[in-house]
Amino acid sequence: MKKYLILLIASTLLSLTRAGAAEMTKEPDSAYIFAYASLKNGGRNGLHFAWSIDRKKWHAIGPEYSYVRCDYGTWGAQKRMLTPFLFYGPDSLWHAVWSVNETDGVVVHVTSKDLVYWRRQSYPILMQKENCLLPALSFDKEHGKFIVEWKSTNGGADATYYRSSTLDFKNYTPPEPVAKATFDNRHTIRLENGEENGTVHKVSWNVIKGLLQAQQQAAYEQELWSEKTAEDGIRFASLKPVDVEVQIDVENKKKISDLLMGVFFEDINYAADGGLYAELVQNRDFEYRLSDKKGSDTSWHSYKAWSLKGEEGTFKIDSVNPLHPNNVHYAILNIEKAGTALVNAGFDGIPLKAGERYNVSLFARNPQEKAIALLIRLIDEHGKLLGEARIRAIKGNWRKYEAAISVKADAAKASLEIIPQEAGEIALDMISLFPEKTFKGRKNGLRADLAQTIADLHPRFVRFPGGCVAHGDGLGNMYRWQNTIGPLEARVPQRNLWNYHQTAGLGYFEYFQFCEDIGAEPVPIVPAGVPCQNSSTGGAGQQGGVPMAEMEAYIQEVLDLIEYANGDTHTVWGKKRAEAGHPKPFNLKYIGIGNEDLISDIFEERFTMIFNRVREKHPEITVIGTVGPSFEGTDYTEGWLIANKLQVPMVDEHYYQSPGWFIHNQAYYDKYDRSKAKVYLGEYAAHLPGRPSNLETALAEAIHLTSLERNGDVVSMASYAPLLAKEDHTQWKPDLIYFNNTEVKPTVGYFVQQIYGQHAGDIYLPTQVRLSNTEEAVKKRLAISVVRDTKSGDAIVKIVNLLPVSTRVALNLEPLGNISTDALKISLAGNPEDEALRPKSTPIAVTKNFKDELPAYSFTVLRFKIVE
Ligand code: AHR
Repeated sequence: MKKYLILLIASTLLSLTRAGAAEMTKEPDSAYIFAYASLKNGGRNGLHFAWSIDRKKWHAIGPEYSYVRCDYGTWGAQKRMLTPFLFYGPDSLWHAVWSVNETDGVVVHVTSKDLVYWRRQSYPILMQKENCLLPALSFDKEHGKFIVEWKSTNGGADATYYRSSTLDFKNYTPPEPVAKATFDNRHTIRLENGEENGTVHKVSWNVIKGLLQAQQQAAYEQELWSEKTAEDGIRFASLKPVDVEVQIDVENKKKISDLLMGVFFEDINYAADGGLYAELVQNRDFEYRLSDKKGSDTSWHSYKAWSLKGEEGTFKIDSVNPLHPNNVHYAILNIEKAGTALVNAGFDGIPLKAGERYNVSLFARNPQEKAIALLIRLIDEHGKLLGEARIRAIKGNWRKYEAAISVKADAAKASLEIIPQEAGEIALDMISLFPEKTFKGRKNGLRADLAQTIADLHPRFVRFPGGCVAHGDGLGNMYRWQNTIGPLEARVPQRNLWNYHQTAGLGYFEYFQFCEDIGAEPVPIVPAGVPCQNSSTGGAGQQGGVPMAEMEAYIQEVLDLIEYANGDTHTVWGKKRAEAGHPKPFNLKYIGIGNEDLISDIFEERFTMIFNRVREKHPEITVIGTVGPSFEGTDYTEGWLIANKLQVPMVDEHYYQSPGWFIHNQAYYDKYDRSKAKVYLGEYAAHLPGRPSNLETALAEAIHLTSLERNGDVVSMASYAPLLAKEDHTQWKPDLIYFNNTEVKPTVGYFVQQIYGQHAGDIYLPTQVRLSNTEEAVKKRLAISVVRDTKSGDAIVKIVNLLPVSTRVALNLEPLGNISTDALKISLAGNPEDEALRPKSTPIAVTKNFKDELPAYSFTVLRFKIVE
């Protein structure tokens, strides 16, 4: 409570500062600001300000609050702001330029009206092969253009200084050498923590007041949002159980989205290969490359997971006369004496189940006269034979061979052996082993237990293939849907930006098929003609986007995807779908363009082109735009501006926040303008320090979901992210479902999602809630949502109690009409740090005056039948 009191006083003072501003007579009309970036954290802390009345005593704001950060290049190595230079232009805008590192010929440019909100950044390449250091900016009044000057040191050229002019910060004249820096008026200023170098400007006091208020607001929010249940003993020291009276308002019911609950699937954490995709052979195509992991793992190459067992033979990788140009590597086995085996270790071993059948397939080439037979064996980790099959008479050019193996006993870590029965040479590729029992028995299908766990969420939609995987690490790594359909050997494998390999075996056809199998709408996300802003491969960041000369072809690719999903079998792409075994359309209704991209001019230009063409050609498809990786800030604002300008029907919002953020932002969507784009909350999760997935994070998400249901007229869809993570191969935490080769381990958060998915509604009924304790801190830890599901007619009440005390709930069910006495109660309760909870479902008998005591830290769902 004490902390709350302090925060309350701080916020009151803050608003008094604002309210009383006009009366503050002792403030100067103007003062000085000093704009600088420190070299701490490698120069990644962004632009700071200090202020002074007399240019002698300086006050650092924050003391190092960041007003704008650099978004150039990859995380970790880049995102640096070096030597920023601030300039007030004749256009009444503040312009900042800075250099990004010691090598790239890039000068970042960005503007702001008030030094608090900064618009989109641009990263013009001013020098092709040389660096741009110490950039400075001025305005040439005579010619009405801005001049950028910088120093260059790594090109070995004659000059050290260069300049270029620009009218619009989009087009720049070629660099001209100059004898010396002409307007670099940087100063070194002593601040409390040491000396910094930057620019000094005289500004009106109001500008400084704005800077101070922005920092104070951010500090205040940070304090609020860092709220954790670990402090509840102090925060709620004297709290007694709370009485909660709920009145349901059926008069003001509203229609809400019936697609709210869905899933986000991305191939991160080995979610696809080695995960949901049921293939058991690792590196089946011998296409693993050092570059998949950017050379960081020298064992990651085309031999990965393969070995030779036995002395009398050799095994090498070749690429001459391959099976397919998209799949150039294959194995050549040269056997001197039968018995030597080519062995695959699987993904951490091959899991097998007693009594089940496994399908082996491979492509082989044997140019010799004599046919070669193969013995295929499954061996457990102790060398015991679990099952075998023979492929007889392999001869001639590349051909596919198939066999099935019945397995005698369970094994967690078996291996696959391929044993030529004759001496001689044989080439092998696409060596594959699938359980016969895939999800719904699909060929090239999905791991049944994992797919079923996803299906049990009852998702109304599936987003795929990402996430960052969708827009990729560099232009060459963007996820191109056509590369992932058709015969497996013709698909294009590629590096996964999460530092492993994508076979594309789980491709667009399989994604569409899975959606259909679980009754979910497919929501594919295609790149907006730009790769991930954090790209490090093939250049930095968005890399200029798809070149304009190639944009027409790229747009056609997006249109072709719609034809592949929905076109009739006489169309080019509809025919390919039919050839893959699905003549009926997949009935695609949504397509996302872009994934939390940096909103730059490069992005806007390409997004607009794609959006306009899809809208024109396919008005029946709802296009989902993107508004960056946060719930606020430049990309969010600029993304929304584009959406409003183009009238994009829906935008994709992403945020990973602390439980405190979710507790204090329950009104986040209450203020959204209903006449603008609808929202697809495509990625969200509650993150605590250490990134656990426990009851505290799950209840914070449950609270947020009550707000999403209340705002289901503007929020159309929502998906927690990421969905899957394989133990020991995880790049991101927390995730919804953890797994290894033999077990599936849903988190507490999974059960919250499942309860919402299985007990969703399409009508929202507002409530009036009266609490016996009306303190803000208490109110914010209780959330209620009531929906009706038109199909079943049921009314569903969800109550989240994130308090350390129980709540005595009195629910007047009278307004709902004739309630059956048989109802269902589902409850998830425990300690905030619990990670292994499961919900309990109990049939209950109810009357119109329903009363119940709900435990501390709990999520309760009550499902009432209405008898018409
Ligand atoms: O969900 C994990 C990652 O988070 C996604 O790939 C990306 O879109 C976001 O930054």
